[in-house]
Amino acid sequence: MNKIIIANWKANLLPTQARSLTKKFTAERPAKNLTAVLCPDFVALSETASLLKKSAFLLGAQDCSAFLPGAHTGEVTAAALKQCGAKYVIIGHSERRANGENSKTISQKIQQAVAEKLIPIICVGETAGERRLKKTKTVLAKQLQEVLAPLPGNYAKSPLIFAYEPVWAIGSGLTPEPLETAEICAMIKNLAAKAGFSRVTVIYGGSITDQNAGEYLQQSAISGLLVGGASLDARRFRRLLNL
Ligand code: 13P
Repeated sequence: MNKIIIANWKANLLPTQARSLTKKFTAERPAKNLTAVLCPDFVALSETASLLKKSAFLLGAQDCSAFLPGAHTGEVTAAALKQCGAKYVIIGHSERRANGENSKTISQKIQQAVAEKLIPIICVGETAGERRLKKTKTVLAKQLQEVLAPLPGNYAKSPLIFAYEPVWAIGSGLTPEPLETAEICAMIKNLAAKAGFSRVTVIYGGSITDQNAGEYLQQSAISGLLVGGASLDARRFRRLLNL
C-alpha cells in the first residue's frame, strides 16, 4: 500500500505564501508509491484546492467543527471542508489539546468528519514527563479509548488514520528511534482493532526531515508521516517526497 506524507502547515503561512508554496510543490509529482496531502489553514483552503485540481496532491484541513452546519459562529464544518475539496482532516493535534480541546470534542469532530466521508487524521501522543515515567502506552491507550468509544458502531468500518505524535518530538529536533516508533504504531493499530476498528492505519509525526524520513518509512508498521516544519520548505519537502 502507498505510504502517505501529510504536510501540516499549521498557522505559519499567509494566503500568498500558501499559494506560492503550493505552486512550487506541484511543479513535480511525488514518487509513485507515495500519497501526498497538503493541509493549509482554512483561509487558504479554497485556493489551494483549485491549485491542486490537476495535480497528484490531495487536500486536507487542520481541524473541523464538532457541530453540524448551523448557528455556530466561527466554526468550519466538515461539510464545508468536503465541498471545498478536502479528503482528509487533522483532528486533536496536541497544539489544540494544549489549548483545552478534550477527547469528547475530538470524538465529536471525528464523527462529523466520518459522516462527510473525510478521513480523519487523529493525533495522539505522550508528553516528555509521561515518557520519563514510562507511561507512553497507558497514555496512548487512554487517548484511543476516549475518542473511539463514543463513536457509533457503524463507524468501525470507516478508514481512520492515527498520527502518533509524541508532544516532546514536535518542533524540537528530537525523535523516538524508528524501531520503537514502529512498535508503538503497531500497538495503536492493535488497540484500535481490539475496539473493533478494522480500517486503521498509523503514521508518525514529530521533527521529520528529508534526512530522517527514510528510516521511518522503511518500517512496515509506519504507514506514513505527518510533517510540520520541513513541509514549509519546498526543496526539503520535495526531497522528502522523492525518497
Ligand atoms: P514538526 O515536523 O515541525 O516537528 O511538527 C510535527 C507536527 O506537529 C505535525 O503535525
